[in-house]
Amino acid sequence: MNVLGIETSCDETSAAVVAGAGDDVRVASCVILSQDVHQVYRGVVPELASRAHLTALGLVVDRALGDARLVLEDLDLIAVTEGPGLIGALLVGVSYAKGLALATGRPLVGVHHLEAHLFGTALDDPAAVPPFIGLIVSGGHSLLLDAPAWGSYRLLGETRDDAVGEAFDKVGSLLGLGYPGGPAVERAARGGDPTRYHFPRPMLHAKQRLGDPDYFDLSMSGLKTAVIHAVRGAADPAAETAHLARGFQDAVIDVLVTKTVRAVEACGRPRVVLGGGVACNRALRDALGTALAARGATLHAPSPRLSTDNAAMIARTGVFRASEAGRTLDAAARLPFPGLVRT
Ligand code: KG4
Ligand code: ZN
Repeated sequence: MNVLGIETSCDETSAAVVAGAGDDVRVASCVILSQDVHQVYRGVVPELASRAHLTALGLVVDRALGDARLVLEDLDLIAVTEGPGLIGALLVGVSYAKGLALATGRPLVGVHHLEAHLFGTALDDPAAVPPFIGLIVSGGHSLLLDAPAWGSYRLLGETRDDAVGEAFDKVGSLLGLGYPGGPAVERAARGGDPTRYHFPRPMLHAKQRLGDPDYFDLSMSGLKTAVIHAVRGAADPAAETAHLARGFQDAVIDVLVTKTVRAVEACGRPRVVLGGGVACNRALRDALGTALAARGATLHAPSPRLSTDNAAMIARTGVFRASEAGRTLDAAARLPFPGLVRT
């Protein structure tokens, strides 16, 4: 089947076509237009994001179809991000997709953005299939889940405050590195001395045991505050930028690796599927890959292009949702994350 995906949940206007069925799906085209207007404000301005989606979406969809050498009639399904995300931005994509579905008579399916990040990794790496532990770390969300099968997810832990990408963005801004902070903090950290700053590892205690509410959950706000205090206490903060970035990144990675290893051991899963924008972070991938290999598990991470928000992962999730009979946008809308249960 040919599926058109549409993604407008935040500051990327994206459309893509995937072709295939089951776990054998290839990307026929993927167009991602990143809105750079937000750099001026060092954060996403929702109203500007919605307006930019409105201007760009039609052209982006046309281009995705053209790149795939398809016309609308060749499509079997339209998949669109229905949430979570900025409400105005989502509304642009959902309204456009509804219009297109009505005009073409094709079925429409609503996709959960976070589930799609897992499918994004599967597009790049055919071995990224359940059963696995999923670690989704993006600008808006951070969660750890157990996935015994596609469509069936057990939430193990999530952030109590800031998402991991959000913490990178805030620290990047604090260090004067611009927006988004993640890539800039990672670059700066490469030249940093790992022994200069030792920041707290939030929610990480050797005493924690399975069943403790803190065992898998994450928190970033205390770490962020520790970085703020370190910046304020530095005689020449500019000279400390690389060291502060390194100290911060090492603390984040330490927490993520420890919690992910806990999940692998608690659930006995052979694989970890990483998803979300922070999956671009090379230091995180290396540390996680090494820690998992030592325990006989493997890490499956997406390419940088499919780590950040894109519509190929939305279309890929559409292929899976289509295999579940009778799902439409309206049916999916009441489900916060289809198949996700918190234990
Ligand atoms: O998944 P995504 O594109 O959008 C959301 O759904 O939020 O993730 C964007 C986030 C931003 O916070 C950005 O700073 C972060 O991913 N990010 C990184 C890196 N590249 C992007 N964080 C750390 N290291 C990176 N190399
Ligand atoms: Zn995302």
